Amino acid sequence: MTPPGMSAAPIGGASAAGPVGVALLGATGSIGTSALRVLARQPDRFVPVALTANGNFAALQEQVARFSPAYAGLVQSCPDAPAAWGRGPDCLVAAATHPEAAIVINAVVGAAGLPATLAALRCGKRVALANKETLVVAGGIVTDTAREHGGELVPVDSEHSAILQCLAGRQPHEVRRLLLTASGGPFRTWPAERIATATRSDALKHPTWQMGSKITIDSATLANKALEVIEAHHLFGVPYDRIDVVVHPQSIIHSFVEFVDGSVLAQMGVPSMELPILYALTWPERVPDSGVPSFDPVALGGLTFEAVRHEQFPMLGLGIAAGRQGGAAPAVFNAANEEAVAQFLAGHLSFGGIAERVADALQELGGSSGDTLDALLAADAAARRHVRSRIVAEL
Ligand SMILES: NC(=O)c1ccc[n+]([C@@H]2O[C@H](COP(=O)([O-])OP(=O)(O)OC[C@H]3O[C@@H](n4cnc5c(N)ncnc54)[C@H](OP(=O)(O)O)[C@@H]3O)[C@@H](O)[C@H]2O)c1
Repeated sequence: MTPPGMSAAPIGGASAAGPVGVALLGATGSIGTSALRVLARQPDRFVPVALTANGNFAALQEQVARFSPAYAGLVQSCPDAPAAWGRGPDCLVAAATHPEAAIVINAVVGAAGLPATLAALRCGKRVALANKETLVVAGGIVTDTAREHGGELVPVDSEHSAILQCLAGRQPHEVRRLLLTASGGPFRTWPAERIATATRSDALKHPTWQMGSKITIDSATLANKALEVIEAHHLFGVPYDRIDVVVHPQSIIHSFVEFVDGSVLAQMGVPSMELPILYALTWPERVPDSGVPSFDPVALGGLTFEAVRHEQFPMLGLGIAAGRQGGAAPAVFNAANEEAVAQFLAGHLSFGGIAERVADALQELGGSSGDTLDALLAADAAARRHVRSRIVAEL
């Protein structure tokens, strides 16, 4: 099955014209630095031609010195940044549409990544998408844009990369169900009362993945899995009632696909984002790479599975319900979650308060209609304001 917006044209081979240019948005983050390690190991196939960061000038400066991209952009203003660098939020779009870039890795965190995804797809480029919020806020618009302009959306998220690999060569009517795995996060076995008062440092201790702080908190609330269910719905065109989640604490099986004959395929590997990043660049081909240690099933020990504890982790159900509702509800869920997580990280909200604030925002604003990009962006802004005003009122 070829997901919407995906062609089957290989892109990752070395060509007579030289290596393929890659724009990397969010180069200084967890995915961004992993992506640079992947690119550095594949100099004959790929070359970074544009790099962006939000405010981390020092890290971006080091990357620019090492990789000499044709374009660099910093969103936040910084007096030390060279005059030639792009500035402000528009630098993401400038990098994403850079003429030397055939592939854009979108590794920005949050809805801030959406305009660049759309701009790259409008230019017919491949978007290797880590920025799942892009598809949660405006999944229909994004997949339509890819289709209309011949752009490709290839997932970087390990679960969606796993599903893409399991679906290779299959047709939509052969698929019964997608089953996404979730590590369960640091509070997998905690009682609800203890989860509600978990501290910032408790929540930032992810058991299996090293990631940026926002997605680490999303993994602790299971909001991340809700975002991924919505992402899978848009990427693979599978209805919500045929997408399930199972807890798999070892994070070795990255997801399953169940077929209509009852067969189940799983994709597995050590938990390293370098594998799905490389695959998103070379899909549908595979190329040799030395970055990840060889798979040793004996050393892994057991693989276990558990049902999701929905009562203790209400964000999963809230997010899936928002996805099913459609319209502006997923954008409201995402924006309210982004704001609530930022407030939790800043010490202004309890861990349990994240789900309460998001539920409240969905109740107030989830019913707004959201067919156009402007309507979705307005719903996003309203949800952020709503969460902020409730928190200020409670301080
Ligand atoms: N980390 C993972 O293993 C993982 C796995 C699957 C999917 N993802 C997804 O990948 C995306 C990135 O996650 P991450 O863990 O790499 O995040 P991260 O470590 O926080 O990095 C975020 C990157 O985006 C930049 N950035 C932050 N806010 C921005 C804004 N408003 N405008 C432009 N750039 C901005 C940051 O720049 P500065 O460094 O200058 O702040 C940084 O380069 C998220 O959507 C996440 O859900 C991550």
